[in-house]
Amino acid sequence: MAELIVALDVESADAAERLADRLPGLRWVKVGSVLMGREGPDLVRRLARRGLRVFLDLKWHDIPNTVAGAVAGAVEAGAAMATVHTLGGRAMMEAAAHSAGASLALVGVTVLTSHDPAGYDRALGRHGTDLDREVIRLAGEAMAAGLAGIVCSPREVGMLRPGVGPRPWIVVPGIRRAADAAGDQVRTATPAEAVRQGATHLVVGRPIIAAADPAVAWEAIQREMG
Ligand code: C5P
Repeated sequence: MAELIVALDVESADAAERLADRLPGLRWVKVGSVLMGREGPDLVRRLARRGLRVFLDLKWHDIPNTVAGAVAGAVEAGAAMATVHTLGGRAMMEAAAHSAGASLALVGVTVLTSHDPAGYDRALGRHGTDLDREVIRLAGEAMAAGLAGIVCSPREVGMLRPGVGPRPWIVVPGIRRAADAAGDQVRTATPAEAVRQGATHLVVGRPIIAAADPAVAWEAIQREMG
């Protein structure tokens, strides 16, 4: 069964914990670089001590030794999942996976959803990159390096699942119910569609955080996931 992860995109640890308190049966939360920068690993420890599984989304991309050290810190703080950039390369991902061991699932970011083909080509000094093929290529690199899964747009899940097989985690943000405001998300999918395509973890922020009653939105999304 797919898991619902609430993105704790709020201004403080207190606000994050207040939100977590309001969501019955909450299992997974995502801490990103904004909250982590403000509150530090103590927040991860506090959330993990409450029995929550913490997805630490810091998208590491550095030399292998540094990323391995960052992963070790995440394991020590009690995180259950974390992100690295697949463009950090095979050696970096292998060092990260080795450092993660069995207690932390590492998932790889392929092509950032903020890139368009021209911007991506410029960043990499290439011409004519087909972004779908690039996402498939980078997902393959992540699998070969021993990562537990990948992060992608919900519209890419159907394209990736056959290539990676049934086991790897596929983690997707950009989830919106029919009535939700899209905000800055462009290529969205509904909770039911993401699950049907083979996503294992759905990351949802504003449709829950900004709802009049976050608990009602949380339960409605869970229902839609089936
Ligand atoms: O509020 P919303 O549901 O759009 O939040 C989605 C979360 O997933 C945010 O924390 C955002 O930073 C993250 N994310 C994303 N798109 C990506 C990777 C991460 O929206 N490609």
